[in-house]
Amino acid sequence: MSDSVLQEAAVRAAAYLESLTGRQVAAREQDVQRLRELKSGFPDEAVSAGEILRILDDYGSPATTASAGGRYFGFVTGGTLPQALAASWMVSAWDQNAALTVMSPAASFFEEVALNWVKEVFGLSADCAGAVVTGATAANFVCLCAARHALLKRAGWNAEEDGLFGAPPIRVIAGDEVHTSLLKALALAGFGRNRVERVPSDEQGRMRADALPELDSHTLLCLQAGNVNTGSFDPAEEVCRQAREAGAWVHVDGAFGLWAAASPRYAHLTRGFALADSWSTDGHKWPNAGYDCGIALVRSEPALRAAMTFSAAYIPSSETRDAANYGPEMSRRARGVELWAALRGLGRTGLAELVERTCGHARMFAAGLRAAGFSVLNEVVINQVLVSFGSDERTRRVISAVQREGTCWCGGTEWHGQSAMRISVSCWATSERDVERSLEAIVQIAGEAG
Ligand SMILES: Cc1ncc(COP(=O)(O)O)c(C=O)c1O
Repeated sequence: MSDSVLQEAAVRAAAYLESLTGRQVAAREQDVQRLRELKSGFPDEAVSAGEILRILDDYGSPATTASAGGRYFGFVTGGTLPQALAASWMVSAWDQNAALTVMSPAASFFEEVALNWVKEVFGLSADCAGAVVTGATAANFVCLCAARHALLKRAGWNAEEDGLFGAPPIRVIAGDEVHTSLLKALALAGFGRNRVERVPSDEQGRMRADALPELDSHTLLCLQAGNVNTGSFDPAEEVCRQAREAGAWVHVDGAFGLWAAASPRYAHLTRGFALADSWSTDGHKWPNAGYDCGIALVRSEPALRAAMTFSAAYIPSSETRDAANYGPEMSRRARGVELWAALRGLGRTGLAELVERTCGHARMFAAGLRAAGFSVLNEVVINQVLVSFGSDERTRRVISAVQREGTCWCGGTEWHGQSAMRISVSCWATSERDVERSLEAIVQIAGEAG
């Protein structure tokens, strides 16, 4: 293989990242339209790898959203730490199948170590089992499958062998403010969305412990660590204790919020979540391990394994952990290596510092917007800020104008019947200067919006 194209890819990728400081965050409309020039039927002739790289860079790079840079505050989007990006290049060169240890001892090793570190950060027992999947949605699904196995087994039913038709019912309870991906995962796992009993939440989106219905040993209770709008945390300590006494299975969707456990300053927010039975989170959000990387953790190794395992004559059984026995996929890329690289590069101190820095930036946004006369709608407990610019109509106009102007990118939402702009500071690359520049732009645009 010609290594010059690989060198050129590295040079072009570095130049792309360099360009993000000076670039508008959203892709320009003309650059998005230009992609159409590449639309054609499947061409007859081959094209060199160098030419492919040129096409991707010329057409693709300008039509990206600059989410790897410091001024993208949409959704909950992490960037990729340099060590994770370098690891991802290495992993692509290795081209390993991470399904079985025999296929890649290295992929298997780094993934297992990374999972152990995540358990340590979250204060979970070392014998919890885990899987590295594409994101928190997939991680929620994996955890719910383990819960399904355990709860139905208690009722004398084998979900994996006999399916769900005719199975004894399982009660599913979740907060009013549950993330939509959890409802999707419940649907995928056969629990259905409509059967979910919803618990009212308070003004910050926290489940109200006083409104929790009676729990029993056939109940799946879904908690949230980090509301996607406000960043708030369900009262895990109180609720998990009740759930444990009743023998219910508690699942935690902690896509980004659980990482607050890494910081001595914010760890109190995650108190009690370690008492649960399963946890889903993302490596591509706060730890900045790059897309895609989700993590499922389950207290009962046998439950996760029973939900996910498979066998065939040509698949050797192994003494070590085979990833395919713990997740939904067989063949897949070795994304656990990037997670390992991100965490190893940070260390405990770096991870805590990343969490604290991004939360500090969120507070800076809130203070700047309040000082400019706008309403911050949430208690800024971690890295999420909700802002109203007055009427719903004006708020929506400001959001569109901010996105068009391009200094930064913030999305919109509805919070308790009111339109709001969401600011999520999740990227390692965001600097204080990025926050200042973004604040200046937002305040000026909001002023012009009348
Ligand atoms: C609380 C919560 N759960 C789940 C998800 C879905 O995560 P992913 O897009 O990685 O599947 C998100 C995304 O923002 C989230 O905030």
